Amino acid sequence: EVVVSSFVADDAEVKRIYKARPEFSHKGHFGKAVVVGGSYGKTGAILLAGRVCARVGAGLTFISAPECAYSASLMQVPEAMFEFAGAREIEAINVIEDGEYGIGPGFGRTETARLALENFLRGHSRPILLDADALTLFSSHFNLLSWVPKDSILTPHPKEFDRLFGASPNSFARLELAKEMAKKHQLNIVLKDHHTQIVLHTGEVYYNVTGNSGLAKGGSGDVLTGIITSLLAQKYSPKEAAIFGVWIHGKAADLALKGQSKESLLASDVIESVGKVFN
Ligand code: APR
Ligand code: MG
Repeated sequence: EVVVSSFVADDAEVKRIYKARPEFSHKGHFGKAVVVGGSYGKTGAILLAGRVCARVGAGLTFISAPECAYSASLMQVPEAMFEFAGAREIEAINVIEDGEYGIGPGFGRTETARLALENFLRGHSRPILLDADALTLFSSHFNLLSWVPKDSILTPHPKEFDRLFGASPNSFARLELAKEMAKKHQLNIVLKDHHTQIVLHTGEVYYNVTGNSGLAKGGSGDVLTGIITSLLAQKYSPKEAAIFGVWIHGKAADLALKGQSKESLLASDVIESVGKVFN
């Protein structure tokens, strides 16, 4: 018997996942999304995540960042609630009741930030998304991984993955290691690349087919974090949020090429194209 465990995340798959937004509804139906990061000098990362999070439809978007990000946040994402997480770096992550968390863009890698992440993880049991600096903090404190709630989503780029789990000679070996680690730690790993692979803890792998090299620029990954966090808030399962989120991200980049080129595309343009994707 042939057991198929690899799938293409095509339009049909995504249509099965998508939940139409009911008219008889209010913001409470679409959840609370909390993006955490944005230390001094890396504020843009969390604002991109927060802005797209609101665009993807979360009922409430919270930007949990140090105070130094506050005025920029008000101007760039006035729709979001701001949670003070420190002065210039992340010192403590406030708990938003029933909030779904995406942690990492511009989070910082100081010892203070690491402790804040550890304290948060000790008190949290629902799946979360971890990206960027939050992942890099794990590589130096591997035992932190045991505190990550089961069924959470990690979104490493290849270097972040290698830092976490050790270097692989090529992308095939990296994928095999990702499958092994996803099972072992009961986590979902989004291996970001051209044709991102969504590696589920069940052993299934979904290949994404949207996206283009216009995304090969700083800020693209931060946008993905905001998209997936927004979907988690809207009660998509981690599996659905990862597959659908990666698809939306790439599709928005593809549609944005109508007014831009692969060279000129900005992460902000990807955010502004999200509406076309849903339509
Ligand atoms: N084709 C399709 N998609 C691509 C391509 C490509 N050629 N290149 C990149 N992408 C997509 C990836 O799949 C991923 O979703 O763009 C995104 C890039 O994510 P990151 O590598 O995390 O980029 P970035 O937003 O710049 O990360 C910001 O955070 O990860 C840390 O320290 C890291 O400086 C970095 C910062
Ligand atoms: Mg990144």
